[in-house]
Amino acid sequence: MSGISRRELLCSGAALSASSLLARSAWGRTAAMLAANPQAGTAEALAAVAPREHLLFDFGWKFIFGNGNDPAKDLGFGKGQGDFAKTGDFGFAKAGFDDSKWRELNLPHDWAVELPFVDDQEQLSHGFKPIGRRYPESSVGWYRREFDVPASDRGKRVWVEFDGVFRDVLLFVNGCFIGRNNNGYAPFRFDITDFLAVGAKNYIVARVDASFGDGWFYEGAGIYRHVWLTKMDPLHLGAWESYVRSELSGDSAALTLGTVVSNEGKQNENARVTWRIEDAKGNTVASAESQAQSVPADGSTEFTAKAKLPKARLWSVEEPNLYTAIVTVETEGKARDAERVNFGVRTVRFDAAKGFFLNGKSLKIQGTCNHQDHAGVGAAVPDRLQWFRLGVLREMGCNAVRTSHNMPTPEWVDACDRMGMMMMCETRQMSSNPEGLEQLEVMVKRYRNSPSIIIWSIGNEEWLLQGPMAEEGEKIATTMVRKCHELDPTRVVSAAVNGDNEKGLSNALDIIGFNYDLKRPEKFHAEHPERPLFGSETSSAISTRGVYATDPLRNTVNSYDGVVSWGETPEEWWTYYGTREWEAGGFAWTGFDYRGEPTPYGWPSINSQFGIVDMCGFPKDYFYYYKAWWGNQPALHLFPHWDFKGREGDTLPVWVYSNLEEVELLVNGKTIGRQKVPHLGHVEWKVRYEPGSIEARGFRGGKTVLTEKRETTGETVAIRLTADRSQINADGEDVVLLTVEALDPQGRHVPTANNRIAFHITGEGKLLGVGNGDPNCQESDKEPKRSLFNGLAQVIVQSTKQPGEIHIEAVKDGWDGPNLTSAKLTITTQQVPLRPAVPEPHVS
Ligand code: GAL
Repeated sequence: MSGISRRELLCSGAALSASSLLARSAWGRTAAMLAANPQAGTAEALAAVAPREHLLFDFGWKFIFGNGNDPAKDLGFGKGQGDFAKTGDFGFAKAGFDDSKWRELNLPHDWAVELPFVDDQEQLSHGFKPIGRRYPESSVGWYRREFDVPASDRGKRVWVEFDGVFRDVLLFVNGCFIGRNNNGYAPFRFDITDFLAVGAKNYIVARVDASFGDGWFYEGAGIYRHVWLTKMDPLHLGAWESYVRSELSGDSAALTLGTVVSNEGKQNENARVTWRIEDAKGNTVASAESQAQSVPADGSTEFTAKAKLPKARLWSVEEPNLYTAIVTVETEGKARDAERVNFGVRTVRFDAAKGFFLNGKSLKIQGTCNHQDHAGVGAAVPDRLQWFRLGVLREMGCNAVRTSHNMPTPEWVDACDRMGMMMMCETRQMSSNPEGLEQLEVMVKRYRNSPSIIIWSIGNEEWLLQGPMAEEGEKIATTMVRKCHELDPTRVVSAAVNGDNEKGLSNALDIIGFNYDLKRPEKFHAEHPERPLFGSETSSAISTRGVYATDPLRNTVNSYDGVVSWGETPEEWWTYYGTREWEAGGFAWTGFDYRGEPTPYGWPSINSQFGIVDMCGFPKDYFYYYKAWWGNQPALHLFPHWDFKGREGDTLPVWVYSNLEEVELLVNGKTIGRQKVPHLGHVEWKVRYEPGSIEARGFRGGKTVLTEKRETTGETVAIRLTADRSQINADGEDVVLLTVEALDPQGRHVPTANNRIAFHITGEGKLLGVGNGDPNCQESDKEPKRSLFNGLAQVIVQSTKQPGEIHIEAVKDGWDGPNLTSAKLTITTQQVPLRPAVPEPHVS
């Protein structure tokens, strides 16, 4: 490698890139979708309505690292002498504690993404971040917040609710220990009423310990999902107890409604529950009320009712119609507590011979598995970014996601409900132990009203429970499946099984999921024709965006046919699943690249290369295979680019993904042949490289339908900045996603550019993170600079709460390299009603 070390190659990129024009078209559609849906990214599936208050508790926290080993560096906590001896004794959660050296931040927050990478093989699966028991100084974090409890809260019950924290939490309020939570994905809540000082300042402290991990992938660290403070009457609806089930008959839907009312007051109450059903426009379309019943003091009572929804508008992937039930508990005509429950009306059927049906219509599941992290932000994904990520997947025709291998963030599920994306919703711990069952119960109750969810998954690749511990596996799975059915009789339960599915946990499943090995489903189907099947995990194809040669020295994989030994290319697995009527479809591993599991190479790679799109959501070439065969529009994608300086005279493979009938290839304006496109396949040529152009023409019925051209570009001379939206909300939560590109003198995207770019952000926005999709790039996610990777980088900027303008300038970073014309962009931030939130502490 003539003097260039492997280390120096990091971030310098290998050679090539996907077309930015096409990359932008995926973004454009997402942006349009966002613009068309004013609630995008800010709606909650279960939200409060008066008289309940449901306040966002994300703003105005303080943070400091603790220590997993040394109490002296851990706020003196855990000396082992009477730590929990007396209630009210924890000074760090009281007035007068000095937190002036703590850092101010807003939630969601992931501190792992802020840490440097460490060259430590044992940290490989977590993306080489120093998190775990061997890194005590960066694995424990403390969050502290002061908040007022007004006198008007006297008599109310107050809960603090966490949507998900990684991982183990000890919670303290006003010096008192409140409770603990020991997992990284399930939401949890505590009633803190008894510990609050009403009409005074209060202090809440969370010690978050990420020393233990669950996954073999990046999991983040800290309070990485939203926190809420919920205030309600002592007579109130139970947590996640409300459900709406629907059954279609003709064009109307029979609704079965249920909830649980708890009474934390001193007297028995005679209560009634009402349901008002609204359509998407807010019109009341049905209503129901329960019998009045007694709710004993310190007890709870279940309430049910039936309603008829005339002319029900069905939820589908094309038309995700949603309804809302406003559930109110009242006594003597007075509303005491209420909440909104979103639901949809649709039918789902898995047929052993005919596959999957949504609303009676046959539909293949065109799914992707995804972890939850994104470039620049790690696991702390802003709500709007969830929409963006789903938009990218939809653009390639994906109609379902699997939340591998954990319970998802509420806003991901909510976005699926609203965008028409189906979901296989997976719990983390496959166990019938109390913790496993609790996680499962919370997941099913929390999301059972979401129409997007079509399958509950109780686990992934539990080798022991499928093999040596098959007997235990069957018992564990039977208990878990029973629990799901009890809480939600409307959905099937499955698991992602890598094996023959002949014994153990598989015996308990409603439908059978196969991971990989395309020989197994066929055999199983022949022997068990009565059991519905689907691909719970497939593919594991690997590729590096914009790279066309596998190079173990640079840790890159070519974009034509890279795949791991246990996997299949998109073409291989979809030719199998897409052509068998009895297969319901499947979920490809993975939609997005993710941190950790840096397959197929280890260090210095820090993320996986399984993604169909990279960490930023920039499409790799495989994206266009799916777009052609999963999408419903004419599609044509030509690759590679045509910038192979130094390879003049070499023969290069030129591929086209298209769903048109025939494709012709022209090299420097001259045709070199026309080929029929095989169903679910691609066409390819071998072309001797010389600078110039290649062009593909796609035909249907003899007519040219689409063309695409790749030209050899010139030197990089300028930067281009484009935004997914020109206006965002001034709510301190919304984000704008900026694409940074390199341009040649003719204004063409340079697909091989790896220039270092710096960003100046001023006005009413702040940098949230940067990325470039390079699996080998160890630059910071948080600094205002980033190298382009094969022509592209991404910047995520978040609004403040002040309406105004955000100015972003992208300039050349450093003194070396060619001069570049910089780029400027202004984004406006518009005033919007802010979500009800806990007032921020006064900052002196
Ligand atoms: C599967 C596993 C995934 C991921 C994938 C990589 O076996 O379920 O989590 O590790 O392999 O190919």
